[in-house]
Amino acid sequence: MTRMERFAESAAWLRERLGDLPRTAVVLGSGLGGLTAQLEDRVEIPYGQIPHFPLTRNENHKGVLAVGRLEGAPVILMSGRFHHYEGYSMEECAYHVPVFKLLGVETLVVTNAAGGINPTFQPGDLMLISDHIKLTSLTPVEGFADGELGPRFFDMGDAYCAALRETARQVAAREGVPLREGVYAYMAGPQYETPAEIRALSVLGADAVGMSTVPEAIMAAHCGIRLLGISAITNLAAGISPNRLSDEEVRQMAAQMSGRFGALVRGIVRAVS
Ligand code: HPA
Repeated sequence: MTRMERFAESAAWLRERLGDLPRTAVVLGSGLGGLTAQLEDRVEIPYGQIPHFPLTRNENHKGVLAVGRLEGAPVILMSGRFHHYEGYSMEECAYHVPVFKLLGVETLVVTNAAGGINPTFQPGDLMLISDHIKLTSLTPVEGFADGELGPRFFDMGDAYCAALRETARQVAAREGVPLREGVYAYMAGPQYETPAEIRALSVLGADAVGMSTVPEAIMAAHCGIRLLGISAITNLAAGISPNRLSDEEVRQMAAQMSGRFGALVRGIVRAVS
């Protein structure tokens, strides 16, 4: 079976199960899964039921696709994503993106937890992703034939859609949620970075660092989905933080931020739908 046949079977199964799907999807990062409970008329589908869908192997990530309305706005919420450090290929990390494309999704919002590199950032800040840096040569579209899903060579200049970022800034101002903006550096993990790596990323122009989102961003650009990325700065990056980095710290801060983060995401979903 080809990858396009797998994407098509996943999409067909979801369409049969759910009918017409919303045009907006949100991928919820660590600690943000709580938004799913706020969905009205919610239908939840564990990833394991969807043909060919990868299963999450991270205990912080639930592995449920939910459809419903958030303050009246129809939306697909993905609670739990696939990370390269869990043993997934980059293509698998972005598996849901072509499926969403086939289902008619036009706008994808991806959220994550990230370490702050920009010296003006504090844990608890929210950052709009303006662009990314990926130092590994791995890509989710390796081996895709030209035209199989999208063009082989494609532009990444507006991968983090400027118009959507403007919408997000307006929503944040309205909701009274302070919002930073910056460049997200992808590091595959699962080990946190070394202090020397963070100094290097800082010189390169990164404002935050994390282990997700970039495979999805590349796939979204490839298949023509508008993307918005938001990072919860859960900790100061290695060498900047006085603490030893830990998943515990990341999870606790993400949980503390979930109220503000949720308000911002709800506002954005309403504004784009
Ligand atoms: N580094 C990488 N990924 C992360 C971090 C970090 O400091 N914090 C949350 N996710």
